[in-house]
Amino acid sequence: MKKIVLTGAAGRLGGYLRGPLSKLADTLVCTDIADGIDDLAGNETYVQADLADKAAIHAIIEGADMVLHFGALVDEASFEDILGPNIIGSYNVWEAASLHGVRRVIYASSIHAVGMYPKNEHIGVDVPHRPDGFYGLAKCFSEDLARMYWEKRGVEAVCLRILSCATVTNPRALGSWLSEGDLVRLVERSIDTPVTGFAIAYGVSANDRSPVDNAAASFLGYRPQDNAEQFADDILANSDPLDPQDKAHMCHGGPFATTELGVSAIAALNLVDD
Ligand SMILES: NC(=O)c1ccc[n+]([C@@H]2O[C@H](COP(=O)([O-])OP(=O)(O)OC[C@H]3O[C@@H](n4cnc5c(N)ncnc54)[C@H](O)[C@@H]3O)[C@@H](O)[C@H]2O)c1
Repeated sequence: MKKIVLTGAAGRLGGYLRGPLSKLADTLVCTDIADGIDDLAGNETYVQADLADKAAIHAIIEGADMVLHFGALVDEASFEDILGPNIIGSYNVWEAASLHGVRRVIYASSIHAVGMYPKNEHIGVDVPHRPDGFYGLAKCFSEDLARMYWEKRGVEAVCLRILSCATVTNPRALGSWLSEGDLVRLVERSIDTPVTGFAIAYGVSANDRSPVDNAAASFLGYRPQDNAEQFADDILANSDPLDPQDKAHMCHGGPFATTELGVSAIAALNLVDD
C-alpha cells in the first residue's frame, strides 16, 4: 500500500501499532490531537488534528488506501465531551474515506458497545448493541456508521470490539485481556484479508476465561496466541472475594456497567501505564 492513516497514533494502542503498520505501506500518516510523537520512523509523518475538524481529517485521509481509526476520548464522559471526538470524529473519518475512495476502515470499537450483557450469557459478534454508557453508545454509533458506509458507499470496515488491551491487574482481565502481540495479529489480519465487507470481531486473546465468541469472525484468520491464564494464580490469590450481585463483576463492561452515565470509570480498571 502507498499510504495508511492511523488516528490516535499518540495513544497507547497507537504506540503498539505504529511499528508493524509502518512496514505495510510506503507512508504511515500518524495523526492525533497531541502535540507530536517523538520517535517517528523514516516513513512516518505526523499531523496534529482534532478528529472533530472535518477539513483537517479530510486532508489527512485523502490518498489513503486504508485508515486505522483508533483516536477517541477513551473513558465514560458526558455526552457533550464524547460528541466531538467519538461521534463527529467517526463521521468525519468515514465521510472522508468514502469521498476519497479508501478501501477499508479498521476501527477500534469496544466491548462497551455490548457492555450491559451479563458475562454468563453467550455473546457472539452479532448480538444487538447494549451499551453501558455514552462512550459505549458512541462505539455503537460508529459500528452502525461503518455498516451504513459499507452498504451505501462500499467502504469496507472491520470493527474490533477490544476488551482490555492492558497489563492484567484484576480478575476481569483474566477473561478480557488482549495482548499487544494479539492486537497486532488482529490488526494485520484485518488489513490483509482480501475481502471483508463489513465485519465485527472481538479483540481478545486466547484466554481460557474469554467471555465472548469470535466464531462468526473466523474468516479473518485471527488466531490469538496469548492466554491470560498465566496470570491467574497471582491475580486470584491477591483479590478479595467478588460480589456476584455487582454488575461491575457480572457484566461485560466491568466498572463501566455500574458507573453513572457521564462519570469516568477508567480509574476502577487500575490500568498500568506501560
Ligand atoms: N486500550 C483498551 O483496552 C481499549 C479497549 C477498547 C477499545 N479501545 C479503543 O482503542 C482506541 C485506542 O485506545 P487507547 O487505549 O490507545 O487510548 P489512548 O487514550 O491512549 O489513545 C487515544 C488517542 O486518541 C487521541 N484523541 C483523543 N481525542 C482526540 C481528538 N479530539 N482528536 C484527535 N485525537 C484525539 C488521544 O490524544 C490519544 O492519543 C480507542 O478508540 C479506544 O476506544 C481501547
